[in-house]
Amino acid sequence: MSRITSLFSFLPGGPGLASNRRVAQPTTGRVDLPLPAEQESEALSFSKKIRAGTAQAHRITESTQFVKAILRGAVDIESYRNMQTGLYLIYSAMEEELERHRAHPLVRSVYFPELNRCGALERDLTFLWGEAWRENLRITPARKQYLERIRWVGENDPGLLVAHSYTRYLGDLSGGQVVERVVRRSLGIEGEDGFHFFHFDGVSDAKEFKNGYRARLDALPISAGQADSLIDEANRVFALNREVFEELEGSWLRALARLVPTGFSQRAALSH
Ligand code: HEM
Repeated sequence: MSRITSLFSFLPGGPGLASNRRVAQPTTGRVDLPLPAEQESEALSFSKKIRAGTAQAHRITESTQFVKAILRGAVDIESYRNMQTGLYLIYSAMEEELERHRAHPLVRSVYFPELNRCGALERDLTFLWGEAWRENLRITPARKQYLERIRWVGENDPGLLVAHSYTRYLGDLSGGQVVERVVRRSLGIEGEDGFHFFHFDGVSDAKEFKNGYRARLDALPISAGQADSLIDEANRVFALNREVFEELEGSWLRALARLVPTGFSQRAALSH
């Protein structure tokens, strides 16, 4: 078993489960079983359809060099704070639009203000950059593209915000927990500072919450066409996230070059 596989073997559906039925598996612990025959898949609930319909996008996203670097523990403080800065910009726009459209017939089904990440990210960025963190909110091309899509959806087709909420929040409640563990270890940081993002104070049981969220998805008052549009939008959101990661790859490569000769603890890099 590879190091990465064994690292995630404790996750639900990890190695050992129904291995003869599994399709090509990613390295992160997410397991996607083969889809049932076409007729049966017609009867699938929407939460199962969106999961199946984005499985490939998830696998491709996991395979970006930057995500692989995170999972191998080769991330440095600079890449981490850049990553969280990008997320802050994205969540600011997304949460603003979710709030604005909270009464929309689709958005209200997945309107959970307890999931909001902006407050947590503000605290993390204050720790990671210092008090002047707002000066580092750079709108890079990939971030711009993502933000423009969120705003476009908010203006023109707010129901699609469901796909944005699904892709980010369910991801954070799943793989996010893995990422926190690995990044903490790489940076040698203990305690909550810099990692509030990964903690959902309003969610006591992530698994149960995700099941409740999926039940809301299943109860959405949508036609088959709208369901397809939401799955398309979720795939688009995965692609936008991927591009944000790809942009971070440059800083990861620089990090790697620095790590090789020294292997120092990066706690020191935080003395502002
Ligand atoms: C950083 C590496 C990642 C890891 C380790 C990871 C891991 C996982 C795992 C283990 C699950 C399954 C959880 C479960 O079945 O309850 C999952 C689900 C999910 N992930 Fe990821 N993931 C990563 C990256 C991402 C990214 C970048 C996104 C989107 C931007 C994302 C979005 C999702 C979504 C939406 C689900 C829920 C699927 C569903 O049940 O409908 N993941 N992830």
